[in-house]
Parts: sequence; C-alpha cells; structure tokens
Amino acid sequence: RTHRIAVIAGDGIGQEVVPEGVRALEAAAEAYGFELRTTEFDYASADYYLKHGTMLPDGWFEQLSAYDAIFFGAVGWPEVVPDHVSLWGSLIQFRRHFDQYVNLRPVKLLEGMKSPLAGRSPGDVDFYVVRENTEGEYSSIGGKMFEGTDRETVIQETVMTRTGVDRVLTYAFELAQRRPRRHLTSATKSNGISITMPYWDERVEEMGRRYPEVDVDKFHIDILAANFVLHPDWFDVVVGSNLFGDILSDLGPACTGTIGIAPSANINPERRFPSLFEPVHGSAPDIAGRGIANPVGQIWSAALMLEHLGEREAAAGIQRAFEKVLAGSPREVLTPDLGGDGSTQSLGKAVADGILAG
Ligand code: NAI
Ligand code: MG
Repeated sequence: RTHRIAVIAGDGIGQEVVPEGVRALEAAAEAYGFELRTTEFDYASADYYLKHGTMLPDGWFEQLSAYDAIFFGAVGWPEVVPDHVSLWGSLIQFRRHFDQYVNLRPVKLLEGMKSPLAGRSPGDVDFYVVRENTEGEYSSIGGKMFEGTDRETVIQETVMTRTGVDRVLTYAFELAQRRPRRHLTSATKSNGISITMPYWDERVEEMGRRYPEVDVDKFHIDILAANFVLHPDWFDVVVGSNLFGDILSDLGPACTGTIGIAPSANINPERRFPSLFEPVHGSAPDIAGRGIANPVGQIWSAALMLEHLGEREAAAGIQRAFEKVLAGSPREVLTPDLGGDGSTQSLGKAVADGILAG
C-alpha cells in the first residue's frame, strides 16, 4: 500500500506542528507496513502571498487532485494578509472545489486532560460532530440595499438542497450505525426558522426510516448548546447544518480542555477528490516561533487521515500512542497548554516513540 500525501504547513504554528504530524505518520508507516510519499507545498501561506500576491498558484487544483489526501496545518497571518483573504483564498477553495461536504470533528475527553466541565471524567465525553460543509447558511446569495441610509437592509439567503442535506445526513447515519450506541442527534431550530429548518427535520425523519437501528433525536440549537455543557454524555453523533455545525464543533472540543489537541477532517466521502485533514486550531500568532505549540491536534488529524485511507490499525496505533502520552508523561514532555514545560518536539517525539513501540 502506498499513500501519496500533499503536505501544506501554512502559517505560524502550522510550520511547527506539521513536522510532528509527519513524524507520527512516518512512524506509523514503519510500524504498520505501508509506504508514504509526501510532497510539501509552500502555498496557502502569508509568505507565498507576499511573493506572489495570491494565496494559491494557478494550477493548484490539478496539482493537489493527484494526491490521496491533503495534510494541512493552519493558514492566517493577519499582520500581512486580512483573514478573510487568506481563508477564502485557500482553505475555503479547497473545501468547495474538492467537494469536502462533511466536516467531521471527534470530541473526546482524554485521560490526563482537565475538562472545564465540573465533575466530568473520560468516558463521559466521547462523540462526533458532523457539520455540513458546502451549503446552508454559508451562501453568497443576498445583497445590500439603501446603503448609507436609515433604510439600509442586508439579506443573505440559506440554501438547502435535497442532495446536499441527504448526503451529509447519510454520512452521519452511517457513522452512528457503526458506533456501539447507534444514537444520532440532529441540531435544528424549526420553531424559529420556519422554512429551511422544518425541511432539515423532514429529511432527518425520512433518513431515520432508512436506518431503523439508529436511535434519533433532535434539539433546537440553543438548548443543544446548553446540553453540550450540562449533559455531554447524552451524545454520540451530532449532525448540523453549516452554521449550527460550525458553532457546535468549536463548543464540543472546548468542553474537553485545550483546543491544542482537537482534530478535524474535511471529507469527500465518494473519494472523487482528496480529503483534507487539519487541526481545529489556527496559526496562533501569539505563540508562533517559540516551539511550544501542542502538536497533538495535528497528530490526531494524521490518525483521521490514515483511517480515511483504510489504514485502520495504524490510525488506532497513533490514537493509543498519544492517549498514553497525554495520560502519563512527565512535565518536561508536555507542552505548556497541558501544564508542562516541554516543547512541540518533545511531545511529538514521545508520541512517535509510542507508535513505534506499538
Ligand atoms: P488560534 O486557534 O490560532 O489561537 C487561539 C488561542 O489558542 C491562542 O491563544 C493560541 O495560542 C492557542 N492555541 C491554538 N493552537 C494551539 C496549540 N496547538 N497549542 C497551544 N495553544 C494553542 O485562533 P485565532 O488566534 O483566532 O486565529 C489566529 C489565526 O489563525 C487567524 O489568522 C485565523 O484566521 C487563523 N485560523 C485558521 C484556521 C485554519 O487554518 N483552519 C482555523 C482558525 C483560525
Ligand atoms: Mg469554526
């Protein structure tokens, strides 16, 4: 088995955590017997923008299409490029052009992590957020009228298509079906948003009939957010529209402690295009260049990538390795966000050693 991976480190701590993610991938390749061919690209970064005036070169789509997956760090350096330019000029292009319509984020409280939720221990928080990643509230249909007058009006439409809703629901139901609890929760707001959200509910109900083994419930987004904090143990697979999923997929990881360990996958389930794997966090300009960023979000993203590529054992091996390191390492190994005084490299190396040790 050979996997061809495009590696894009991007900006800030992306440059520091991506090498640790690659180190984990190489250790997994050695321990589990597959071949890894990585190619690094310098675009989707502020440096590239300074040199070329754009975030991406003309041929990026053809170039990246040739890879099995994209391993991404973070993009954004607001001193040099405004955030909407860097984000829409790179990551959002990848998600839309590669039709990565599922954004998957595991939310899991690990041993050794301090949850900000009172009285919660590992096992209480272990679920997935599945976010619709290409349509919904994030449309460009709308406009501004009567600009500069007291009648100024802005409108932005939500777009839901049957194909778009059903395909992300199918992914979420399939995931729930494979999990022991077989429980799916839908985020809605059909009491207030009276056209699109009832449609979403209708599609969830219809899909539920196709998956009779999956136990389905729904909550309005406001109380759902509250229940993430009050009853995280209620959830198994949570599916939401683009906006609701975006909010829940930051709230979920926040309930488990540091943002530094949270991974995400932007997936094209049909594998027509490469999927993209990245940590939840950004480029962290406040700590960039100091070698203290937590690499676990990037390493966990590497595990999600291997799972997507069919390397289940290797993915599980990476997961076991970082869970063990987080649960039982001395201060000098752990990064400051975990209460340690170690470095990106000390933590990354400990995980890689753990992967090799099996
Ligand atoms: P951020 O996630 O970069 O940082 C938020 C806070 O968390 C900072 O205090 C940072 O030091 C800390 N943090 C983040 N990752 C960490 C890690 N691995 N270890 C330890 N501490 C960590 O979010 P922020 O500051 O809002 O954005 C900074 C830049 O990143 C902006 O340009 C933004 O647009 C971009 N960004 C890019 C994302 C992406 O590439 N997918 C996602 C989020 C933000
Ligand atoms: Mg977000």
